[in-house]
Amino acid sequence: MRTLISSLVGAVLLASFAALGSGLISAVYEETKVPIAKAERAAEAKQLLEIFPQSSHDNELIDDGFVIAANDALLALREPGTGYRARRGNAVSGIIIPATARDGYSGDIRLLVGINSDGMIAGVRILGHRETPGLGDKIELRKSNWVLSFNDKTLSNPTPTSWAVTKDGGEFDAFTGATVTPRAVVAAVRKALEYSNNNRDALFEIAEANES
Ligand SMILES: Cc1cc2nc3c(=O)[nH]c(=O)nc-3n(C[C@H](O)[C@H](O)[C@H](O)COP(=O)(O)O)c2cc1C
Repeated sequence: MRTLISSLVGAVLLASFAALGSGLISAVYEETKVPIAKAERAAEAKQLLEIFPQSSHDNELIDDGFVIAANDALLALREPGTGYRARRGNAVSGIIIPATARDGYSGDIRLLVGINSDGMIAGVRILGHRETPGLGDKIELRKSNWVLSFNDKTLSNPTPTSWAVTKDGGEFDAFTGATVTPRAVVAAVRKALEYSNNNRDALFEIAEANES
C-alpha cells in the first residue's frame, strides 16, 4: 500500500513539474517572440540598406516586400522567400531578391541579390551558410571583400563564359584551397540575374507604371 501511495505521489509530483516546466517555456516564448521578431526585422532592414542605402530611394525597403515562390529553378529557394523593391517616386529603381546556392561545400548558401532597374548588380550579401571557417566563409563581407566583386556586373558583363571563377576560366576569384564555395555563389548570382531578366516587367512593375 505504502509503495502504491509513494508511486502515486511521485507520479503527481512528476506531472506537476512537467506542467510547470512547459508552462514556463511557453511563457518565456510568449514574452520573447515579439522582441526576437523585432530584432530579426531590424537585422534584415540593415542588410537591405547595405545594398540600397537610404539616400538611393524614398521608400522603406523592409515595408515593400513581395513573396517569391519556392523551388523556382533559377532562385532554388527551399521555402517561399521575400523580395523587396526600392522606389524613387512611383518607379521601382531596384529590387532585392533572395536566392539559394544548393551546391555549397556544406549545403545551402542563402543570399540576397540587389539589382538596379538597368540590370546592374547593386550588391550581394550572404544570409546564411555552413561553409568551413577560414576556407569557404570568405564569401561573408565581414571576412573578405570578395562578395563586392559582383557590384555593377550585369548578365552580359562579364560575358557568359566569364561568369565563373578564375579556375573555370571566369573572372571571379576563387579562394586558395576553396573553389567549391565561390563557384556555387557565382552560379547562384548569375541565375538570380537571369530570374530578374526573365521576370523584369513584374518585378520592376513596368507594365503597371506604363498603364498609369
Ligand atoms: C575539411 C575540409 C573542408 C573544406 N571546406 C571547404 C569549403 O568550405 N569551401 C570550399 O570551397 N572548399 C572546401 N574544401 C576544399 C574542397 O574539398 C576542394 O578541394 C576545393 O574547394 C577545391 O575544389 P576544386 O578542386 O573544384 O577546385 C574543404 C576541404 C576539406 C578537407
